[in-house]
Amino acid sequence: MVRPPDYSLTMVDDDLIVKASAVMDHNSRQANYHGRIYRYTVPSQNHYPFQWFWDSCFHAIIYTRLNLPERAKSEIDCLFLRQRENGFMPHIQFWDKSKLKIRLHSWKWLETRPFLSFLPFSPKPSTSEEIQPPILAQAIEEVYKKTGDLVWLKTVLQKTERYYHWFSDNRTVDSGGLIVIIAPFESGLDQSPAYDPVISDRVLTPNQSLHITRQLAFSNKLLLYNNFLIKRFGRFLVKDVLVNTLYIQGLQSLGRLYGYAGVIGKEDFFRKWSERVQGSLIKECWDKEAGLFWNVDVRKNRYSKLKTVISLMPIVLETLPGETADRLVSDHFLNSDEFYLPYPIPSVAKDEPSFRASDNHPADLTRPLWRGSTWVNTNWMIIGGLRRHGYFKLADKIAEKTRYLVKKHGFWEYYNPIDGKPGELAARNFSWSTLACCMS
Ligand code: GLC
Repeated sequence: MVRPPDYSLTMVDDDLIVKASAVMDHNSRQANYHGRIYRYTVPSQNHYPFQWFWDSCFHAIIYTRLNLPERAKSEIDCLFLRQRENGFMPHIQFWDKSKLKIRLHSWKWLETRPFLSFLPFSPKPSTSEEIQPPILAQAIEEVYKKTGDLVWLKTVLQKTERYYHWFSDNRTVDSGGLIVIIAPFESGLDQSPAYDPVISDRVLTPNQSLHITRQLAFSNKLLLYNNFLIKRFGRFLVKDVLVNTLYIQGLQSLGRLYGYAGVIGKEDFFRKWSERVQGSLIKECWDKEAGLFWNVDVRKNRYSKLKTVISLMPIVLETLPGETADRLVSDHFLNSDEFYLPYPIPSVAKDEPSFRASDNHPADLTRPLWRGSTWVNTNWMIIGGLRRHGYFKLADKIAEKTRYLVKKHGFWEYYNPIDGKPGELAARNFSWSTLACCMS
């Protein structure tokens, strides 16, 4: 007889907190910037030895839960070190250059600016030239709520505002205010098949998708990662639902942060800005018939219709109309042919031809990230969203199952949504998977 999973393992107990603290400690690093030492956390020791943008935002949130407010603040402070004058913040900062072995056509070459960096003695880049989902203000709000540190808040507020203005100045293509990404990697969901219809007219294998995304990155590099040129000539421009959802939520958080700091007028300004962009998200991406949000391929001026977790993400917005949230839940979250699998929420709906529960396919040249596996960070965001819309039971169930995964197997990068096993090629001791401690 097959024994049912032991859900008594699912409480957030001291043991889980101790293990999460150990992983975060193990992944902590120091950055030396103009003679001062800052601390940040790598996503995982072997696979990801640098500072990633949205990972660090999640790490700051985790540190508040682990009762380490100074680490939470330093994680954010370190992110700001390489912010550019115009507000841009890169998706990766390469603090430890000894780990930066650059080969021609590797992502470290394709997603950075210098052309000769693959040569042994030529200068190496300090950052990538892409972005990641803008979840910065939300992380700062969590840290502020926990610490009440107004002095610190005031040191980061204007920089955060500049960061969000960078998007409206550089990444909008019309007056609706939705922002575009210029490569799949900018979405944080690297090889998600959601981008396959944008880059090809066929269903792609992970290898084909990787090949085409490399070509895309190369063409962006040739355009010098200049946003004006890329918006004019680039091949990949997508209004991404997940990225825009976090942008809208970030604007809402930023408004509240100004409120906490007692700055008059800004709260209203950011609220109105977020309302305008949310209006465009619903107008341009919501498909009433399907009951889902779709990414918009700006070049082809059409929806990119493939059911992935991206289509569900607006649930995180507390301002999303109730009936829209209800459709997402009843038609999709609870649909066992799509997203309600034994270990939800898979990154791709099960009934999509590109769905892969396991990551170990002999033909794959690459790890097929986000092509079906379940991830802790998207679950964490979704759980919060479901609670904001009153779906407490469903949220608790997903939280329980997510905690079960990490308690049983440890903190892995992603898990198989059908049997709950960690991905065979997944990174272990993966920092943001400790978000499982932040789900009660
Ligand atoms: C993978 C994920 C990306 C994350 C990075 C570092 O590339 O797809 O979202 O930021 O790993 O953890």
